[in-house]
Amino acid sequence: EKGGYDWFMLKEIAEQPQAVADTLLGRHSADGRLQLDEMRLSDSELRDVDRIIIVACGTAAYAGLVAKYAIEHWTRIPCEVELASEFRYRDPIIDRSTLVVSISQSGETMDTLMAVRYARQQKARVLSICNTNGSTIPRESDAVIYTHAGPEIAVASTKGFLAQIVACYLLALYLAQVKGTKYGDEISDIIADIQQIPAAVQRMLDDGDQMRKLAADLAGSRSILFLGRHAGYPVALEGALKLKELAYIHAEGFAAGELKHGPIALIEEGLPVFVVVPPKGRDQLQEKTVSSIQEIRARGARTIVLAEDGDEDVVPYADHLVRLPKVPTLLQPLVAVVPLQIFASEFASVLGHDVDQPRNLAKSVTVE
Ligand code: BG6
Repeated sequence: EKGGYDWFMLKEIAEQPQAVADTLLGRHSADGRLQLDEMRLSDSELRDVDRIIIVACGTAAYAGLVAKYAIEHWTRIPCEVELASEFRYRDPIIDRSTLVVSISQSGETMDTLMAVRYARQQKARVLSICNTNGSTIPRESDAVIYTHAGPEIAVASTKGFLAQIVACYLLALYLAQVKGTKYGDEISDIIADIQQIPAAVQRMLDDGDQMRKLAADLAGSRSILFLGRHAGYPVALEGALKLKELAYIHAEGFAAGELKHGPIALIEEGLPVFVVVPPKGRDQLQEKTVSSIQEIRARGARTIVLAEDGDEDVVPYADHLVRLPKVPTLLQPLVAVVPLQIFASEFASVLGHDVDQPRNLAKSVTVE
């Protein structure tokens, strides 16, 4: 049943190209229009949306943080991401023109369900992104986009995460179409870029041995840090979460730009630090991230740098270099997270932990 893999998690990591492809399948027509068939909100209702609040827990919340960058960029609708367990206790300002987007692989997470119920009581419209047909959260929502990742057994979410990001992107493009902030051929171009992702993820899987070796090398570490910027920031958070969940060591993700505002104090000789480097672009984020790598390396960090093909600037500062296929900035999280997933599962394996069922965790937490 594990398909020849030692753990369900490894099988599910390997299924990610398919999870992305299946989540995209049949959602867009030849004329570039998007069809989201579980969308029970009318275009005119969606046109009225002036704010989006994403609510979710754990890895699903990090998928939301990634999606925020694309949603705001493509739709120009302000988007916040909030942990479901915090949302309803802070008296949030929501009304009929607020679209609350819940993200949940299982569709049963109590914190997320309570956030959905609260949002509906406050008259917001609720759209849920979910991987489990007929589960409670989609049943209680105004609209649903199902991710088609297939069942996820390992407690730590992997293919669910990628599929959630893709579903959020489809939603963003649909809203952009309805709102008129993107036109048909721009949308088709972005969809065509997303269609390249399964092959790009496959390449990261094919390069998996590098992560296996690195995990064995770093197995004695008691603390590992992750840095990222822009859409790479939530990737850093997710890389750290995976390691906490599976390897039970201290791991933290930081925004690279925050380094000098605190985290740099943690850097000491030999501390492993993963850095996700954004693609080169107009915004100088690649250059700024490279200088962050220089700063931590000068203080003795052991740098594991994830940078796209052809980025030679990082080479002098990388103790380990992980190459990423060239993809647009907003899609980079979908490839950059894969080596971090492999690293965490291998690290846990080396330590002799149960990769599929980490201590103290449950696949779906149905209590608050
Ligand atoms: C946690 C799981 O309890 O719930 C995480 O350990 C998961 O892996 C989170 O991301 C949210 O679960 P769901 O099903 O709502 O996406």
